[in-house]
Amino acid sequence: MGILIKNGTVVSATESKSLDVLIEGETIACVDVGIGEDGHEVVDASGLLVMPGGIDVHTHLDMPFGGTTSADDYTTGTQAAAAGGTTMLIDFALQSQGHTMREAFDVWRAKSKGKACVDYSLHMAVTDLGLGDEAEGEQRGLREMEEMVAEGISSFKLFMAYPGVLMIDDGLMFKVMQKAAALNALCCVHAENGSAIDVVVAQMIAEGKTAPHYHALSRSPKAEAEATHRAIALADMAGAAVYIVHLSNEDSLAALKFMQSRGAKALAETCTQYLVLSIEDQMPGKSWDEAKYVFTPPLRERWNQAPLWDALADGALAVVSTDHCPFRFADQKELGRGDFRKIPNGGPGVENRLQILWHFGVNAGRISPERFVALSATNPAKIFGMEKQKGRIAEGLDADILLWDTKAEYTISAATQRMATDYSMFEGWKVVGNAAKVYSRGELVVDNVAQPGKFLGATGRGRFVKREANAGGFA
Ligand code: URP
Ligand code: ZN
Ligand code: ZN
Repeated sequence: MGILIKNGTVVSATESKSLDVLIEGETIACVDVGIGEDGHEVVDASGLLVMPGGIDVHTHLDMPFGGTTSADDYTTGTQAAAAGGTTMLIDFALQSQGHTMREAFDVWRAKSKGKACVDYSLHMAVTDLGLGDEAEGEQRGLREMEEMVAEGISSFKLFMAYPGVLMIDDGLMFKVMQKAAALNALCCVHAENGSAIDVVVAQMIAEGKTAPHYHALSRSPKAEAEATHRAIALADMAGAAVYIVHLSNEDSLAALKFMQSRGAKALAETCTQYLVLSIEDQMPGKSWDEAKYVFTPPLRERWNQAPLWDALADGALAVVSTDHCPFRFADQKELGRGDFRKIPNGGPGVENRLQILWHFGVNAGRISPERFVALSATNPAKIFGMEKQKGRIAEGLDADILLWDTKAEYTISAATQRMATDYSMFEGWKVVGNAAKVYSRGELVVDNVAQPGKFLGATGRGRFVKREANAGGFA
């Protein structure tokens, strides 16, 4: 006996159709018109959209950063994701300088063990290639990249920002890109000119400009655009596919589009915060409260939002993620009172991604429901090498299914959220459109109608997903 979802509208990245969906065990057994009830448990999805569970490819759970650790661990972070309709995350394992990727892999697998509540995978952030090996003619780290791909880690993260912590130089980045090209792996890049930004930051501090607002002013969109172009150009030289993370502004978008027009294998995401928040509205330079919005890249001037939305609609941008990197306001953001350099960079958002994208995207007529599915689930699955398992409502795939109520009204608030922060970036916002029921591998894990926000599955039920190396779908 399976679970039969009847009378709903199944939305894919290309079309919407009235279809029934039969779940057997953990997978989708059949998608068809008029599937017989045959003793199945019937779920009436009349008036609801049936969509693939969301995939957020950019989160930082339980991550040491900025002198503290991100507030959501794998339990609270994945439960928050599920409450908002997201059934799969790709988090980041960070290699520390002087240590191996294997160590980072083991550390992050241990963090998630017994804690993850929906499925997850990892990108490997490369910070060090180690010493050369005369016999093999290749540095240890480059060989380790092969091992990581064999473990199902098919994307590598490269930081052009955070000098002295995570930033790598262009030579190292280029070597990793060449190896990634050979392995069909994808290079994910945080594109900002970290060295130039650090000069501006030091000058601001010397001038007594220490408030949160200056974090944003110190990181010019031009520093992001320059690095975006450089990252894509280097990847193109190396023959690698590249994915620019958290693209935040029109200048960077222009750099992306230029390189795409020249045939570079270049993809990019933006994040919910850049689509709906701005420096004018959230960071006018008036109060310490603005520390809530200190993340990197920073908020941009409001006019940047329209070109980002246009790029989501026309395909220049392929994905919306969150860069969920939560820190509590009361004690963690507090570390940087009096010096914006010490404010832990990051904001909470994994729970609200689909609500924001639906309300300000679909309801506002900026994107179609099909494009919503493409940006939130289907493209992430394809780009990150798991389209045979996730990201679509199709026979044989994992039954990660979202029943979406386009009419549900929801007020976002820290008081009711699952995320472990004491604030929301969208406090008090009223959105229309929310997850009604969420299935993860065939199990009902959230029922926002009967028990709003409650995670119904067992803690630790989430599984590590091995991803194929498919060069971001270009292979
Ligand atoms: O502010 C941010 N984004 N924190 C997380 C690390 C990163 O750069 O993605
Ligand atoms: Zn980043
Ligand atoms: Zn990030």
